[in-house]
Amino acid sequence: MPTSRPSLPQRPPPRTVSITGVGAYVPQRILSNADLERMVETSNDWITTRTGIRERRLAAENEATSDMAVEAARRAMTNAGVTADQIDLIIVATITPDRLFPSTACIVQDRIGAVRAAAFDLEAACSGFVYTLEVGSQFVASHTYNTVLIIGAEKMSAFVDWTDRNTCVLFGDGAGAAVLQHRPGSHGLLMTCLGSDGGKSELLQVPGGGSACPATIDSVSKKLHFLRMDGKETFKNAVNAMVSAAQEVLGRCGVTVDQLACIIPHQANQRIMSAVADRLGAREDQLYVNVDRYGNTSAASVAIALDEALSQGRIKAGDLVLLVVFGAGLTWGAALIEW
Ligand code: UT7
Repeated sequence: MPTSRPSLPQRPPPRTVSITGVGAYVPQRILSNADLERMVETSNDWITTRTGIRERRLAAENEATSDMAVEAARRAMTNAGVTADQIDLIIVATITPDRLFPSTACIVQDRIGAVRAAAFDLEAACSGFVYTLEVGSQFVASHTYNTVLIIGAEKMSAFVDWTDRNTCVLFGDGAGAAVLQHRPGSHGLLMTCLGSDGGKSELLQVPGGGSACPATIDSVSKKLHFLRMDGKETFKNAVNAMVSAAQEVLGRCGVTVDQLACIIPHQANQRIMSAVADRLGAREDQLYVNVDRYGNTSAASVAIALDEALSQGRIKAGDLVLLVVFGAGLTWGAALIEW
């Protein structure tokens, strides 16, 4: 006689996911364009007209990515009203981890005392924060976890060749974090779209230091452990990918650009952001921009900008907010949030 299997418990329907707290940290040291004029053959005029960057923050020598991540995480937790023991999962988006392993997320987990939390790093370069937002949200939506801490943190200054004017003027250090939870009665994250194109991985990379090219005296002397970028090609790909990612999430939600209270693009270059706004038909005043003060902080960029936009009152309850990002990989993404 066949025995009937006991019926399994029904999976509850997915939950909505909200960002219940945001926090950011940037290091104190400011490196201005005038400082860079003394380091490489460049000018304040070239940097501001080509990028919009006036200054960037640099971490102290003894300040690692995890130190900045911890500070941003503490601020996000305070703003969300959660304590470390409530956190179920920590995801750190970074391309500048403290070490190849263990993950920076594990170091953060210990430092903030999130004793119950699982922790891992996610690598999607400058798109990392939107990737962690989507990945972290899935755990909350599926009832796997109640409270997820996502962090974008970078010490880009450790991987920049300070003799290469093509790249050293562009990047800065910092961290941003957010707490993801289900908030009854709130829509929160409406739609995310992620994408990648590994066929263009050589446009922006650190060639050395991984298993394909372990560190040797030769690799160090060839500067293979520093960031390299084909700026022009990266620029073109960035504009196209950000525009189509933004259009996809807006189209799928039936939201028009004029309904957006705030658009937070990855802060790589003022000209990229303006081109994206132009192609989307957005007004410049819908954009939140801080690239002038921080440069490109990679995975931290939209998280720091989101924190500032909130504290400046640029985002209010019920507002529609669009995050749109692009980075090495290539990777890109957009997220539409009802605040
Ligand atoms: O975060 C992930 C994605 N990253 C990005 O999205 C960055 C994308 N790319 C860019 O933002 C821009 O391509 C750059 C800002 C990197 C460069 O701007 P560009 O308008 O594409 O300049 P270019 O590459 O055409 O360079 C023009 C000239 C070159 O000189 P020649 O060959 O025409 O004589 C460069 O050598 O500007 C020169 N140049 C500089 N001059 C003064 C490059 N860097 C500098 C510099 N100062 N710092």
